[in-house]
Amino acid sequence: MEYEVRFIDYPKQYKKIRKEILETIDTVLSRGDVMMRRQMRHFENNLAAFVGTKYAVGTSNCTDAMHLTLRAAGIGAGDEVITVSHTFIATAAAIHHAGAAPVLVDIGEDHNMNVDLLEAAITPQTKAIIPVNLNGRLCDMEKVLAIAEKHGLIVIEDTAQSLGGSFKDIKGGNWGLAGCFSFYPAKLLGAYGDAGAMVTSSEEIAQKVCALRDHGRMPNGDIAGWSFNCRLDNLHAAILDLKLKNLPESLERRREIAKIYDDGLSGLSQLQLPPAPSDDGDYYDVFQNYEIEADDRDSLVDDLRKNGIEIMLPWGGAGVHQFKALGLTHFRLPRTEKLLSRALLLPMHPELEDEQAEYVVEVIKRHYHN
Ligand SMILES: Cc1ncc(COP(=O)(O)O)c(C=O)c1O
Repeated sequence: MEYEVRFIDYPKQYKKIRKEILETIDTVLSRGDVMMRRQMRHFENNLAAFVGTKYAVGTSNCTDAMHLTLRAAGIGAGDEVITVSHTFIATAAAIHHAGAAPVLVDIGEDHNMNVDLLEAAITPQTKAIIPVNLNGRLCDMEKVLAIAEKHGLIVIEDTAQSLGGSFKDIKGGNWGLAGCFSFYPAKLLGAYGDAGAMVTSSEEIAQKVCALRDHGRMPNGDIAGWSFNCRLDNLHAAILDLKLKNLPESLERRREIAKIYDDGLSGLSQLQLPPAPSDDGDYYDVFQNYEIEADDRDSLVDDLRKNGIEIMLPWGGAGVHQFKALGLTHFRLPRTEKLLSRALLLPMHPELEDEQAEYVVEVIKRHYHN
């Protein structure tokens, strides 16, 4: 079905920057700069400067960035890593592939990790915490870091969805030992395929992940150990570097759209909305997604779709612990389960017109006879 209001509008986004994209591709290919060349280094430097860390290391995707960072931090068999279930399977998969066990805690009212439940999940095997900065909003990283410090734990942020978002003026990715970003096409900064990066201010972790992403190869030609091929494509790096320049503007546009949703929907008793941009206090939320909770969610979703509005359910409607094949069904996470039975994601992308967001509001109001 062709939706009138798309969840993400890739063709419209491309149309806006087509000329620069084609020039960039032409420059890279004309120079023969296809693997790990100057464009990748430029992008890594610019990304680190944007986030405020000393280093950035481009990788094939965010899952690989997290997996390699866990390995670089010495996490492996017998270790436990605490994270949430309201995240993409990738977070738990990275922990699993590092050889450790994911331990899942419930979320709070802002849909991020409920930090008050963190200490109860810590055992003698716990080595790290991966807070997930979901939907463009950071976790309460001050509390996470205080608990991590008290118990001697490593913090690696899964900030796949929060590039440019901040808490107390410190950006996502710049709080813990490292942070990992996704540049999947739908993300705040999207490539035209898979791409990711790890940022850190630790020279040791940066060097280790640099080697790990490239079969363990080190600058002196020696091999650090068995590893993988998780390199960032140079062409993608060049495109990401170009798009990074427009990122602050596109984040502001997302906040404008969030304001339209908030202004239009905040009076409806059937809905629970995320904090409004004007009301986010210590947070600068960048609205990767606009995730709402709704009474009678499935009929609202049907109605929106029938009216030409493309809607997504987070993770298809189930958290990580609800997928039987993963062996994590023993976790009891009532707030996560309740949210996932009520949550939906409204269209959110910088190309969305005011009138389109207003139309979404109108259809939702009509649905609830408001
Ligand atoms: C919260 C979160 N973590 C991790 C990932 C994995 O990113 P990638 O697809 O780049 O591996 C995603 C991507 O959807 C995500 O949303």
